[in-house]
Amino acid sequence: IEKIGVITSGGDAPGMNAAIRAVVRACAYYNIECVGAYRGYQGLIEGDFKILSPRHVSNIINRGGTILKSARSSEFRTKEGRAKAYKEIKKAEIDALVLIGGDGTFTGGMIFNEEYHFPCIGIPGTIDNDIYGTNFTIGYDTALNTVVDVIDKIRDTASSHNRLFFVEVMGRDAGFIALNAGVGAGAEEILIPEEDLGLERLLEALKRSKRSGKSSSIVVVSEGDKIGKNVFELADYVEENLPQYEVRVSVLGHMQRGGSPSCFDRVLATRLGVKAVELLLDGQTNLMVGLLNNKVETTELDHAVKGKHHINKELLRVSDIMSI
Ligand code: F6P
Repeated sequence: IEKIGVITSGGDAPGMNAAIRAVVRACAYYNIECVGAYRGYQGLIEGDFKILSPRHVSNIINRGGTILKSARSSEFRTKEGRAKAYKEIKKAEIDALVLIGGDGTFTGGMIFNEEYHFPCIGIPGTIDNDIYGTNFTIGYDTALNTVVDVIDKIRDTASSHNRLFFVEVMGRDAGFIALNAGVGAGAEEILIPEEDLGLERLLEALKRSKRSGKSSSIVVVSEGDKIGKNVFELADYVEENLPQYEVRVSVLGHMQRGGSPSCFDRVLATRLGVKAVELLLDGQTNLMVGLLNNKVETTELDHAVKGKHHINKELLRVSDIMSI
């Protein structure tokens, strides 16, 4: 292997730049070339490449977003799109790929590997933390800190006005952000996709909290929760059924994907980036690098995609106890 290509694909996440930097510098350390492709798989299809040397990645370890830009390429999902990408990759003399992203990114890599036997290693980068084979994905810790910081601010105004706030957080199919930020920010209730607690239970819990003398409350709602109402409908429903509450809604949205990565995410990204390059140099392919019990470990890409990273249900119980 003499030249490694790197892409960031899918939803961006803070720490992706730190991962790119680690890949680029590890390549330089091992005397091989590194090429970045812009906008994920789309850049491979269009041959939109840039040679990356160690100085190209100076001063990016602290920056959110991704200098390589990101996209969800629909063209790469087609056979023709992948054929174009292969042609461009060969033309650029790239021998292997490091794919930074989530399960969509890894699925693309697996199909590409199946069709062209092209070496690919995945690095998990998504704020959702919904990847099997790693305790933490790059960007998750930063997103948690962002959410806790914002909920602290919402708490100030909620408390001044004696209001109940529903705060919607990201996590398409996974409740990691809601659950952990909810516990960290002292939420009254936490609604996640993995556990449908039901509307009745929510109303009961809110009634109880009012009776116990609480004047304001925060309910953290994951965007993928299973309660069957969107956050605005939910807020209306609660206000209709519990007129003692004045309710407001705050949807945090894409602010959760931005910002300077936390130290944890920078270190994680750096460790995983170095390992990804080393695996490729060792002739390995179709693996994802991840952190398990604070050790860098590998998981088959196939397992990373199909496996389920379970939330820690113990946290729901802990949150319940705290809501007394
Ligand atoms: O997967 C990361 C994520 O931020 C999810 O939490 C969210 O549902 C989705 O991406 C939003 O995607 P987009 O940026 O394409 O709207």
